[in-house]
Amino acid sequence: MTVQRIGVVGLGAMGAGIAQVAIEAGFDVVGREVSGELGDAAAARIGHFLTRKVEKGQQTEEERDAAVARLETTTELDALADCDLVIEAIVEELDAKRALFTELERLCRADAVLATNTSALSVTEIAAATASPERVVGMHFFNPAPLMPLVEVVRAELSADGPVATALAVVEQLGKVAVPCHDTPGFVVNRVLIPLLNDCVRVLDEARVSPESLDAAMANGAGWPMGPCTLLDLVGIDVHVHASEALYEKLREPRMAAPPRLVAMRNAGLYGRKSGRGFYAYG
Ligand code: CAA
Repeated sequence: MTVQRIGVVGLGAMGAGIAQVAIEAGFDVVGREVSGELGDAAAARIGHFLTRKVEKGQQTEEERDAAVARLETTTELDALADCDLVIEAIVEELDAKRALFTELERLCRADAVLATNTSALSVTEIAAATASPERVVGMHFFNPAPLMPLVEVVRAELSADGPVATALAVVEQLGKVAVPCHDTPGFVVNRVLIPLLNDCVRVLDEARVSPESLDAAMANGAGWPMGPCTLLDLVGIDVHVHASEALYEKLREPRMAAPPRLVAMRNAGLYGRKSGRGFYAYG
């Protein structure tokens, strides 16, 4: 199936990033948020990043304007009815996602592909909320979506070949690197990265180093582009703890469980960049 119109449900950090990548690649995008204010804020953030690209000579003003014109925001789910592909990027809660997919199945065309950007939930369990699970796939982008090349294209138990092929083709059109995989807890990257980041936080206390020192160690000794504490602040401590809990529930491996220090940070609202404070403070 040829995709021209993409719906993105949820315009938080991930959804807005996905919408940005899609309009830059020439797709028409309908982004849905629960309020007009949240939709406007996401559109403004996208506009800001595109303008920075103009200032840095990475694109022309005309290209930016054409991309911005391809983005429409809405609060109505019905506005996604004529999309060829819908990518869900709402809160990481199974019940909320399952309810959304039931709605999407009802209002979208029968041949539309329905994708979830979940990072740690089961795509199969989300798809099972619909009567047409064959058209449900995972398209897992990485944070920040406009900068990270990878998209895991996840085949759930009942995904059909056509929708998987459509998702792979869209990833290629987005100029991203697709890694197709099956629906297992954490897929590929998070299966490795989540326990690794949890180990990093345990080392903070065991080796008695500061977040700054641990970040310097991993950046300079292991070649990480950013240290683990900076990365956790970027991903969101809440998001990471939630993903750890989801993986621990499925795999029962102690390394998957979030260290108490991270759970305490989450409980205190120290989410990282988005809350203004995590391992570091943000102005
Ligand atoms: N759109 C466009 N541009 C953006 C942007 C966005 N959404 N966000 C930031 N930028 C811009 C910045 O504004 C900056 O431009 P300015 O000149 O305007 O400042 C530009 O991108 C480059 O920023 P940096 O100087 O910070 O770039 P960098 O070279 O240091 O690379 C990075 C940044 C790509 C994020 C790099 O540090 C990196 O690869 N970090 C690791 C990130 C990572 O591992 N992500 C995965 C997280 S795990 C995950 O996502 C899975 C999950 O399910 C939770």
